[in-house]
Amino acid sequence: PALGPVLGIESSCDETAAAILAPDGTILAESVFSQTEDHARFGGVVPELAARAHLAHLPGLVAGVLQRAGLTPRDLGGVAATSGPGLIGGLIVGASYGKGMAMAHRLPFVAVNHLEAHALTPRLPGLFPGLPGGGAEFPYLLLLLSGGHCQCVAVEGLGRYRRLGTTLDDAVGEAFDKSAKLLGLPWPGGPHLERLAREGDAARVPLPRPLLGREGCDFSFSGLKTAVAQAVAKGHAHADIAAAFQASVAAVVADRARHALAMAPFDRKPGATALVVSGGVAANTAVREALARVAEAAGLPLIAPPIRLCTDNAVMVAWTGIERLRAGLTDPWNHAPRPRWPL
Ligand code: KG4
Ligand code: ZN
Repeated sequence: PALGPVLGIESSCDETAAAILAPDGTILAESVFSQTEDHARFGGVVPELAARAHLAHLPGLVAGVLQRAGLTPRDLGGVAATSGPGLIGGLIVGASYGKGMAMAHRLPFVAVNHLEAHALTPRLPGLFPGLPGGGAEFPYLLLLLSGGHCQCVAVEGLGRYRRLGTTLDDAVGEAFDKSAKLLGLPWPGGPHLERLAREGDAARVPLPRPLLGREGCDFSFSGLKTAVAQAVAKGHAHADIAAAFQASVAAVVADRARHALAMAPFDRKPGATALVVSGGVAANTAVREALARVAEAAGLPLIAPPIRLCTDNAVMVAWTGIERLRAGLTDPWNHAPRPRWPL
């Protein structure tokens, strides 16, 4: 029988989200509750608070998307819930809720890897009218740039992901947030730092560009953060430091992407069909522009999902559920959430 609409649930960090997608990828309803304000006064995500907030908000979010999609649970074709990697308390809330619903209504359950969900988002049909089929075709090169993750991944096919490089220390969003904190900006600092950088002159502050030109496509940001602390101590204008930091990150990310493409990582010829960037840092204009130049030089389109689908959301979880269900993949009731779950 044809697949019915799929409910997606996301609760791995500090966004509680639910979405329902038709099997062709049409978004029937989506909803995100961001807990940022609850955590801001602590300067970062507090896992216990996050888990409690997921529990408080998830039932209402799920009821809301069902209502707006005009569906009851019985109309669904499956339930997909993020089951790792992430904060264990939140993962248990979302995965248990999803399993409970699936069990009660005799629906298949899909335990979604959050990184796979980010990786498959650009395949969502209809997002990119310029592309044949409206979504990215396998294989493509993914740069996942968020607060928790920083990876170069060769996406060869469903379930076929090759991590080409990752960060040796901080994730890129974490580097933005820590540097922003040193500049006295509120958490999460990425967008604040970007705004401040517009008023600064990057040339006035010499900052390192870690691993630039180095073989492979790993990242390292802790030295850059230390250099920012030193520049603050020396009394450089904060706007100039912000501009220099951002220029350094954009240059490094572009360099790493260039290396990843040159590593010719793909089994199938003619290789990557696109360069894809996702995660919260994909919202950064300087980073996007630097990557656009890399893609252009390689003769590839740069695909960046709309910001709301770059940051944590449940549309990507439901879509991963659809891709997996179509391939006949489901998970058992005893599938345990995994705080660490590499692609
Ligand atoms: O993907 P995301 O929403 O959450 C996860 O970490 O999974 O990413 C959040 C990160 C934060 O570190 C935030 O500061 C950063 O993305 N970010 C930005 C910008 N917008 C968000 N970093 C730089 N420039 C931005 N405009
Ligand atoms: Zn994420």
